[in-house]
Amino acid sequence: MSDVVTNEVYARPIRIFHSVFALCMMTQLAVGELMDVPEVEKEYEASIQWVTSAIAHEAHHTPVVVGGAVEKTPGFEMHELLGLTIATLLLVRIILAMSSLPGANWRYLFPWLFAAGRKQLGQEVKLQVAGWKQIKLAAPEDGESVARSVHGLILLASVVMGVTGTLLFFGWSTTAPQVEWVEIVAEVHELVVGALEALLAAHILAVILHQRQGHDIISRIKPTA
Ligand code: HEM
Repeated sequence: MSDVVTNEVYARPIRIFHSVFALCMMTQLAVGELMDVPEVEKEYEASIQWVTSAIAHEAHHTPVVVGGAVEKTPGFEMHELLGLTIATLLLVRIILAMSSLPGANWRYLFPWLFAAGRKQLGQEVKLQVAGWKQIKLAAPEDGESVARSVHGLILLASVVMGVTGTLLFFGWSTTAPQVEWVEIVAEVHELVVGALEALLAAHILAVILHQRQGHDIISRIKPTA
């Protein structure tokens, strides 16, 4: 049932990518939750005091107004910088996904796109469902398609975050209320982050369970052999 054909499950570039990407993503999610977003509220648009309020993730801080613009907070600037770094990392992962390096190809990440992959997914789910109910996981080789589907969805959600984030980087205004397309893109950005967090929670829980069951999957993805 396993599609592992070599001892090396993940090629070295994927292992290095994972360490850098995981660190950037976890930092980014924390920064995104904590930062203040410099935003001009609509109700102040016609008023002289239109720059009096910045809102972000329910936090209420008095914004600093410099030269007619709401000043960006250090948290927001870090979010922008990390976001562009993550978008670049994702471009690297997309290039790797077109290679035949072990564990890199996009076909591994989206088994549900192919009839054989869907069949394997079905078999794995059937095999594992009783264990899941007892919070137990099958050996990694009996759950490759399920794990890879989760990894694929994590990367897909990250790409959506990266694309919407890059659009927001260029479209976000600190001097006027956001135009309609920016508001829509921001909504998608916020919606997808919820899905991404749920997938990451499942990913990290699965890693913990595998380790506790002695499957040592960490050694498959460690950057050092
Ligand atoms: C404490 C944090 C984390 C640990 C311990 C961890 C551990 C692992 C392990 C052990 C694997 C290999 C699974 C297998 O055996 O097939 C893996 C793969 C993967 N992880 Fe993580 N992970 C962490 C955080 C993250 C984060 C934050 C992300 C993304 C936002 C992420 C995305 C991925 C992806 C996409 C793969 C598949 C490799 C690839 O195709 O690029 N992981 N992780």
